[in-house]
Amino acid sequence: MSLPAIESLLKQKMGLHSSTVGSGTISQAVEQRMRDCGITDINDYRNIISQSETELNELIDTVVIPETWFYRDRNPFSAFSDWVRHNWQAGAAHTPLRILSVPCSTGEEPYTLAMCLADCGLTAADAHIDAIDISNTNIERARQARYGNNSFRGGDLRFRDRYFEPVDARFQLKDTIRQRVHFEQSNLLEQGFSAGRAPYHVIFCRNLLIYFDRPTQHQAIDRLEQLLTGDGILFLGHSETSLLLERPFAALEFPRCFGFRRAEKKNRADHTPAPRSKPKTPVARKRDRPPAATPLPFAEVETGEELQTVDTEAGQNDVLLQKAFRLADQGHLDEAARHCETLLQRHALQADTHYLLGLIREAAGNTAEAERMFRRTVYLDPTHYEALAHLSVICRRQGDTGDARRFHERAARAQRHNRGTG
Ligand SMILES: C[S@@+](CC[C@H](N)C(=O)[O-])C[C@H]1O[C@@H](n2cnc3c(N)ncnc32)[C@H](O)[C@@H]1O
Repeated sequence: MSLPAIESLLKQKMGLHSSTVGSGTISQAVEQRMRDCGITDINDYRNIISQSETELNELIDTVVIPETWFYRDRNPFSAFSDWVRHNWQAGAAHTPLRILSVPCSTGEEPYTLAMCLADCGLTAADAHIDAIDISNTNIERARQARYGNNSFRGGDLRFRDRYFEPVDARFQLKDTIRQRVHFEQSNLLEQGFSAGRAPYHVIFCRNLLIYFDRPTQHQAIDRLEQLLTGDGILFLGHSETSLLLERPFAALEFPRCFGFRRAEKKNRADHTPAPRSKPKTPVARKRDRPPAATPLPFAEVETGEELQTVDTEAGQNDVLLQKAFRLADQGHLDEAARHCETLLQRHALQADTHYLLGLIREAAGNTAEAERMFRRTVYLDPTHYEALAHLSVICRRQGDTGDARRFHERAARAQRHNRGTG
């Protein structure tokens, strides 16, 4: 009984949704901390963490996933450097450039930003980088700035020769870069997080929101929006970007960089509105339970609802499709995909089933397969607004602005058509 209580405390404190890492991970961390503290009864441990902030922080340190490396995903950093050169340096900015990296884990991300700035010719006085993580251990390691091979991945490691010195089979970051980053232990979800912070021109918040449920993701995005200057840019992790589809943000032109700026008012009509995720065929449901928390940011379908019994084949297919949406919404992607495949065997021309499979592939990071599914959807149903909107976003991210515009225009026409106004 105590493990769920501990999971719920972790969710309340740091936003961690147990289904995203699995109860196994949390229970292993709890067992490790109990061993370290010499405690054998989980109820005793639960009582300790409800009273001791220090031990709760130790548990958080044990449970967090610090996975990170220099120049992770490459393109976000190329887009950042591009923006610094063409927008920041080309402008008449006299104030230092303010950058936030949250969560920064063991420092690889903010130090990468510092190396990019040095490569762009900015001095330490030209920019201020704040780097924040909830884990004390991570922040301590970040401050030491000494890294093993795991932090250096990918083919191009020329930056290591420029900015690091080998020390005892590891690599020590040079002080000229190290001193550019200000580390701080803090919790993005804590009430006072934004207090006293001036807004940032650039925010990197990558690979954190995936561990939150839907309401917590929005709470975090609200906070980041608050902290971003009007003309600032925001980078998320690649599987987190669909959260911004629902907000007035536009993707940066740079391909696959997962960076956004606020959509300008005059362009807001151009901003493809958020695709809805519900199947177009309505299915009767009872409305007596609240929606469940959603670990993955792609489904708007109301969850946890009982479906009414139907006996026609078409009705049963609708029920199965609705069930697949609900499973996907709860994070059970494999099971949802299996339902879709069963449905496609029965009825290969069902546009909404292809659409849901596209959402599932997109959430799993398989953009090529997602795009294939969305294209099939619009082949079967040329006015499928949601699939057209997703295709527009995918093409824009891939740098294919022509197709992105064409899908956007088709989505707008489909929306008017579906409303009966076009
Ligand atoms: C996978 S790392 C991401 C690091 C880096 N942004 C990247 O993408 O390479 C996730 C980090 O989130 C931190 N974290 C988890 N919950 C947090 C919270 N509520 N506030 C701040 N940091 C948090 C963890 O300590 C961990 O270091």
